[in-house]
Amino acid sequence: MKKYLKLAIFLVVLPLVLVACGTADEDATTDTEPVDEADDEYADLIAKFDPLGDVPVPEDNPMDEDVIELGKTLFFDPRLSGNDELSCASCHVPALGWSDGKPLFEGFEGVEGPRRTPTIINSAYYDELFWDGRADSLEEQAKGPISSPIEMNMNLDELADKLAAIDGYPEMFEEAFGEEITLDNIVKAIAAFERTIVIDDTPFDRFLAGDYDALTEEEILGMKVFANEGQCITCHNGPNLTDQQYHNVGLDSDDEGRMEHTGDEEDDGAFRTAGLYGIAHHAPYMHDGSLETLEDVVDFYDRGGDGHPNTSPLITELNLTDEQKSALVAFLKALSGDESPSVEVPDLPDYDEEE
Ligand code: HEC
Ligand code: HEC
Repeated sequence: MKKYLKLAIFLVVLPLVLVACGTADEDATTDTEPVDEADDEYADLIAKFDPLGDVPVPEDNPMDEDVIELGKTLFFDPRLSGNDELSCASCHVPALGWSDGKPLFEGFEGVEGPRRTPTIINSAYYDELFWDGRADSLEEQAKGPISSPIEMNMNLDELADKLAAIDGYPEMFEEAFGEEITLDNIVKAIAAFERTIVIDDTPFDRFLAGDYDALTEEEILGMKVFANEGQCITCHNGPNLTDQQYHNVGLDSDDEGRMEHTGDEEDDGAFRTAGLYGIAHHAPYMHDGSLETLEDVVDFYDRGGDGHPNTSPLITELNLTDEQKSALVAFLKALSGDESPSVEVPDLPDYDEEE
């Protein structure tokens, strides 16, 4: 026993000794990454951020393959809408970063909606859904657009029967849930599918994990501006780069935002801090789609917002240099990975495009 204990102590101490030698003797480290001095500086920077971690999954809706496949099919099926024309994917378009590329959404029979379609990339990481956080889970959220008269306009009480009449769906639900079609199962399947639309392996994540070559020098400068001069991290912090709180960033907009939900005047024009993973794939930006590019977003924050009377005191003029602004944009792009997550569009049961 004693022998093993001694060996264990030796193995614990050995790396410490090696590290000490490494710093004392420059030559000994020539084969390794040339980070030496920068090493400590990055450690401070990295400590300000949190790794994304695994997608949170509720206990009553585990990630089952049949459930996910069913959810994907439902997500793409326009028969979830009242006039059989709009699916979730009509507005959350995979190739447009799971949003729609428009400032404001276009809903049922062309009605223009009051807000922009947010992406569903990494939406599984939010505790509260919608720009104003009025839904507590993806399951609950999904009922919103299906029944909304300006979105899919489908009576929720009739949806299960409607799907039960489509050859193929009863079998898919049986396989996934071991029971018949219910509204509960419909939204569980959709939510499980949404939990697979994730961006989690970006250059930023690799940098956080210690791979200092993953970000370019400009992107690292951008990360520093994000955490320091730009003060972005005051709100965009924690896993998925959101504090999950509600702030008024000072957009020139009449939308009452969170106040509509809480009735509290302090919440006038406040919206949930947006997560930033995949941000480069789904312009335009903000709840009103008023900022066209990431450069516009950075200029907006740089000038301290556009003067909404309830602007958060956390939003102030930044006076960033052009170099800092470009670096910040480069960093935001590094949070996006190369492309928007894609999926193979499923064959819909008993569906004929001509119908
Ligand atoms: C007509 C366009 C449209 C359709 C169809 C649509 N959505 Fe949305 N979606 C939106 C808009 C707009 C919002 C934001 C509304 C708000 O916050 O007030 C939204 C919000 C969301 C959110 C919240 C994201 C976040 O950041 O909190 C999720 C998730 C979502 N939709 C999933 C779905 C699902 C699932 C379906 C199909 C059942 C669907 N959507 C159908 C336009 C649409
Ligand atoms: C006071 C908190 C706060 C600070 C500080 C802040 N943000 Fe935001 N950010 C938000 C909120 C809240 C939203 C959503 C606002 C809305 O749509 O009304 C948002 C939205 C965004 C969006 C658009 C997301 C989308 O999907 O449309 C980007 C990009 C962004 N912020 C980047 C930044 C950068 C870069 C900085 C630093 C220069 C920063 N933010 C500073 C809270 C903040």
